[in-house]
Amino acid sequence: MQWVYYHEELRPLDSLPGGQPDSGLLYGRGLFETMRVRDGRVPWLAQHLERLLCSARRLGLPVVHSSDRLAQLVEQTVSANRVGQGAVRLTLTDSLLIQCRPLPYREEDYRQGWRLGLAPWQRSAADPLLQHKTTACWNNLLAREQARRAGRQEVLWLNTQGQVCEGSISNIFVLQEGVLRTPPVQCGLLPGVARARLLELARREGLEVREEVIYPEQLYRAQEVWLTNALLLLLPAVSLEERPLGSGRPGPLAARFYSLLLRQDAFRTDA
Ligand SMILES: Cc1ncc(COP(=O)(O)O)c(C=O)c1O
Repeated sequence: MQWVYYHEELRPLDSLPGGQPDSGLLYGRGLFETMRVRDGRVPWLAQHLERLLCSARRLGLPVVHSSDRLAQLVEQTVSANRVGQGAVRLTLTDSLLIQCRPLPYREEDYRQGWRLGLAPWQRSAADPLLQHKTTACWNNLLAREQARRAGRQEVLWLNTQGQVCEGSISNIFVLQEGVLRTPPVQCGLLPGVARARLLELARREGLEVREEVIYPEQLYRAQEVWLTNALLLLLPAVSLEERPLGSGRPGPLAARFYSLLLRQDAFRTDA
C-alpha cells in the first residue's frame, strides 16, 4: 500500500478521491468561472458554461457532467446559500467545486475609478493558456498584489511586443471619438464574458467597435478607459503609473454603459 501525507494526516493513496492527488493541486490543471448572482439568479450562466466546456475540450480536461447538470448544480449552490446579490465560482479540476461569496466591489470603486500600474513582466502572446480561464493564474495574483502595495487597484499586462493585453482580472476598452477599441484575443488575453456582452451592446448603441492592437500611449489620449469582468461589469480606469487616462476621472459613458450592462444582466438574454 502507498501512503500519502494529506490534510494533516498519513493516509492510503487509494483513500483519495479517484485514487490520485488532484491534478489541479499538482499541476494547476484546472478551469474556473466566476459568475455574478443577481436576484438569486445567474444571468450569464449559459455563456460562462459555454466558455468552460469549450476550454475543457480544447485543453483535454475531462468533464463528467453535462452543461445542463452543471447549470443545475450552480443554481442549487446559490439557492442553498440563499444568495441574492453576490458571486458564485465553479472550479473544475479532477473534481468539481462550487462556492459562493459576496461581491467584492464597492460603490466608491465605480465613483473614483481604478488606478492601474504596469505589470512587472511581459506576456507571450503565444502562450496557449492565456485564452482560457485556468486555475494556473498565480502570475495574475502576484502582479495584482504588487500593484496593490503601490496603492493601485489593477495592473495592465503588455505582451512582448509592447501591446496592451488586459488586466489581471479584467479586460480593457478604450473609447475615443465614438470608437470603442479592445485588443483581439491574439494579443494574449482571456475572451471575457462581460467583454463579449459589452461589444454586442456598444454596437447596438451605435458605437463603432474595433478589436485591434492597442499601445499604452493610446490609453493616455483616450476619452475614457474601461475595465470589464463578469462581477465588476464595467468600471472606469483613471490612471496608468500615476499618469491620468483621459481626463483622469470616470467619464459619463462609463456610467451609462454600466447601467445598460446591469439592465441586460437583469433580464436573461441568451443571445
Ligand atoms: C485575466 C482575466 N481577464 C479577463 C477577465 C474578465 O473575464 P469575464 O468577463 O469572463 O469575467 C478575467 C476575469 O476574472 C480575468 O481573470
